[in-house]
Amino acid sequence: MKAVILAGGSGTRLYPTTGVINKHLLPIYNKPMIYYSLSVVMLIGIREVVLVVNPKDLDSFYKLLGNGSRIGMSIDYSLQSEPLGLADALLSAEHLVREDSVCLVLGDNIFFGHGLPDILKEAKAGVEAKGGAYVFGYYVNDPSRYGIIELDSEGRVVSLEEKPKNPKSNFACVGLYFYDEGVFDIAREVKPSKRGEKEITSVNEVYMREGKLRARILGRGFAWFDAGTHDSFLEAGEFVATVEKKTGLMIGCIEEIAYRNGWIGKEELIKLAEPLAKTDYGRYLMSLLEEDKDAL
Ligand code: DAU
Repeated sequence: MKAVILAGGSGTRLYPTTGVINKHLLPIYNKPMIYYSLSVVMLIGIREVVLVVNPKDLDSFYKLLGNGSRIGMSIDYSLQSEPLGLADALLSAEHLVREDSVCLVLGDNIFFGHGLPDILKEAKAGVEAKGGAYVFGYYVNDPSRYGIIELDSEGRVVSLEEKPKNPKSNFACVGLYFYDEGVFDIAREVKPSKRGEKEITSVNEVYMREGKLRARILGRGFAWFDAGTHDSFLEAGEFVATVEKKTGLMIGCIEEIAYRNGWIGKEELIKLAEPLAKTDYGRYLMSLLEEDKDAL
């Protein structure tokens, strides 16, 4: 399975800043937004990533992440020339995914919670073994902002709607999806919605109608942010700051995860930390060599 992370779009909800800087490069507290979605795919153990970006932002992303080898990964870039929707962005990565199953992550989503990697690994294994698709619901108090999932008493998905005016439930579909290889054929057939976008919700609806969509609710023990508006951007930053200050442990530190996954060794970690030696981020990386935080 490969991961496709979406970092295109227009970011209009964060204007005027995103008129000149790509949203996913803005800092959520102390690191770029894109680190958080990347760190989730790393925690699932996926090493091959396609990052979907706007052509004008390619250089900035490449400067930040390169080809991924610094953190023991392979990162390819696919260009989406216009923000024509999430399913369109996914399609732009098809030639790089090359008939593999996909973990699709929205680059402006931030996830946190004990046991999350195991839940995601289970979903990944399910899609790899049985095919189909897997989505996750999260209870929200403003359902009209999201794609909404309705489940029956057995936990089966019975309806999906993108930003409904009259939501059938409070379960938002979070921006992390697992798909079998068939997803590209489905995405190709999807017609643009009223707002002119190829919606990922329409892709999920096809899986649902075919009885191939599984879903799981992420309960109260998890935090999930879609940091695409000024308020949610601030809330996500405050959340990360609070947890990091309390525990002294970072959320979304890609170098740390690469080191703990064994994708880079001590020498590589030192090389990454040294240029940042005078910063808190660099000191944190160096501290990983000294302290035993493994049990955490
Ligand atoms: O955050 C969860 C929600 O994300 C889901 O509940 C919705 O079903 C889903 O449609 C999506 O809704 P948003 O309106 O929040 O999507 P947004 O336009 O913010 O785009 C999500 C990410 O995808 C963002 O990081 C930018 C990127 N993107 C977006 C578009 C439209 C692209 O890379 N290309 C695009 O064409």
